[in-house]
Amino acid sequence: MDLDIQISRASKSKIDQVDFGNFSFGSVFTDHMFECDYVDGRWQNPKIAPYQSISIEPSASVFHYGQAIFEGMKAYKDSNDEVWLFRPKENVARFNKSSVRLAIPEFPEELFFDALKKLLTLEKDWVKKDEGSALYVRPFVIGNEFAIQASPSKNYKFMIICAPATPYYVGKVKVLVADKFSRAASGGVGYAKAAGNYAGQFYPTNLAKEKGFQQIIWTDSNEHKYLEEAGTMNVFFRIGDKLVTAPVTDTILDGVTRKSIIQIAKDLGIDVDVRRITVDEIKEASRNNELKEIFGTGTAAVVSEISEFEHKDELFVLPEVDDSYAKKLKERLVSIQTNKCEDPHSWRYKI
Ligand code: COI
Repeated sequence: MDLDIQISRASKSKIDQVDFGNFSFGSVFTDHMFECDYVDGRWQNPKIAPYQSISIEPSASVFHYGQAIFEGMKAYKDSNDEVWLFRPKENVARFNKSSVRLAIPEFPEELFFDALKKLLTLEKDWVKKDEGSALYVRPFVIGNEFAIQASPSKNYKFMIICAPATPYYVGKVKVLVADKFSRAASGGVGYAKAAGNYAGQFYPTNLAKEKGFQQIIWTDSNEHKYLEEAGTMNVFFRIGDKLVTAPVTDTILDGVTRKSIIQIAKDLGIDVDVRRITVDEIKEASRNNELKEIFGTGTAAVVSEISEFEHKDELFVLPEVDDSYAKKLKERLVSIQTNKCEDPHSWRYKI
């Protein structure tokens, strides 16, 4: 099996046309993309080509049954112009875990890393050093058999595209706690980065936006009693001086930022409790002034502070705290990601 990556370079970079201070997250793409097809029962023809449209028949299975999964990772540039990924092995493993759940053939890890290295080497100039900058890397795979029977596709297309990242949420986030809609049900695909997990959130999130909230904190689908995750993020609660977050289950995404924040908190001597947490508990803690912070974590969102939450028409406003865990943890995380401090857990991966 020949899995050498063929590279054809763009004749001219688009980078000079980009106003780096002035675009929204995920709306600008770099010069190249990686693609590889699964045909005749094997991955083949890996290539890097100029970023361009792809041609797919309308019968392709992804359009009908949503057989698609994706990942999100970020590349950072340090002061010596070296480019780093953050814990990419975790993303590759989760990519394949998501694939298995959606009956998609796993993508070979070695080829995945080869593709990341070659693509990011070509796109090095797109990784900016300014504070808060990174290059967002989006691997994804789609069912690409031209047939509409409701069964797993025989053919797939794996791709990696890259987009310069700007902050995903600007300022603090206001959230609505779900009491009607659900993101994921037990036994379902909630733990996978299935494309449909996100599409299913758009309508309830639009309703929340009409009420002035940016995101929804999802609760369990049985009773809407336990707090699970917030839109595109895992979610943490600071009650007193303890940090509490839900354990990952089959309805909660096993966030790379989430597990890194738990580790960093422990490294900094913060008490972390990974356990189920109820809506009533945080409402009660807020009424007693014990709920000091809520924040979300994710690759795109990094660490995003939540300023207010509403549940069943009751609004809870969080206090301003001087010793914000969110700020402290974010600072440490970003320092590790951008090679500004020691990396005690060997999370950085050099391109
Ligand atoms: C990420 O944080 O990488 C995500 O997958 C969220 C995405 C929907 C922007």
